[in-house]
Amino acid sequence: MGIAFLNGSFLPIEQAKISPMDRGFLFGDGIYEVVPSYQGKMVGFKPHMERMKHGLSAIGIPLDWSQQQWPDLCHRLIEENGSGNLGLYLHISRGTDSSRSHGFPKAVDPTVFAYAFEIAPPPIADKAMAKPYSVSTARDMRWERRHIKSTALLGNVLHFQYGLERGHGETLLYNADNELTEASACNVFVVKNGTVLTPPLDHQKLPGITRFMLLDMLRKDGRIPVEERAITMDEVAGADEVWITSSSKEIVPVTEVDGVPVGNGQVGDIWLAAQTLYSANKFNY
Ligand code: PDD
Repeated sequence: MGIAFLNGSFLPIEQAKISPMDRGFLFGDGIYEVVPSYQGKMVGFKPHMERMKHGLSAIGIPLDWSQQQWPDLCHRLIEENGSGNLGLYLHISRGTDSSRSHGFPKAVDPTVFAYAFEIAPPPIADKAMAKPYSVSTARDMRWERRHIKSTALLGNVLHFQYGLERGHGETLLYNADNELTEASACNVFVVKNGTVLTPPLDHQKLPGITRFMLLDMLRKDGRIPVEERAITMDEVAGADEVWITSSSKEIVPVTEVDGVPVGNGQVGDIWLAAQTLYSANKFNY
């Protein structure tokens, strides 16, 4: 069992306790981040902190931490937990109140919890080593503020479970206009005729850090055209390649959607180029 952080103290995770009156527990009233770290080197730390700042402000949690506190916390967690392949889970809830009242309590300190968990080694940009996914699809039934990385994840959990029960590793979600939004815990990319496509950011999807870094790398590299635009589920069905992205998975090729092969059913050349670029540049953010 690892060493966690709770409200100012580092302690064995089994000793970390919060009150059942914590609003994170009662309402899912909080936000979180997952920052990957490989052999002590974090990926995308700056954009993760930016998204956390936006999330806190979007839901009105006042956290008076100095800028240095988060990197210090993360480095200590890495040190305490063996600095292998780690996901650093950072969670801030609105705090513990004496009554279960929906309105924001006054003068309550936010709860800050963090721990490290082992993640798989980063994917290697090699088609033979890739672990392709099969996925389900489902109408996106979550709330209307999916751009906030809220700890209230029941909608995501139910969508993920739906895919799992069909033998799939993820569930691709679409809105009322039959447009792709994201997956239950990943963003989604589609390749058609050599162009990389992904839906534009709005309230329907999380602004993923892996998504941001990959788009930035592809644009700076310039060899593969990129478009952020609405993608219909018919386009997903006709895609040459489909990928899902997240901090702990990087870029995962999807070779089957609802039991139907994507393109020729093999891991694609553009995935290989994208993962090669990502592996080479991910520590620069
Ligand atoms: N999931 N969309 C959703 C709904 C997510 O939960 C995630 C990440 C992403 C990808 O975001 P990023 O690239 O910043 O990891 C997209 C995390 C890893 C989780 O919940 O564990």
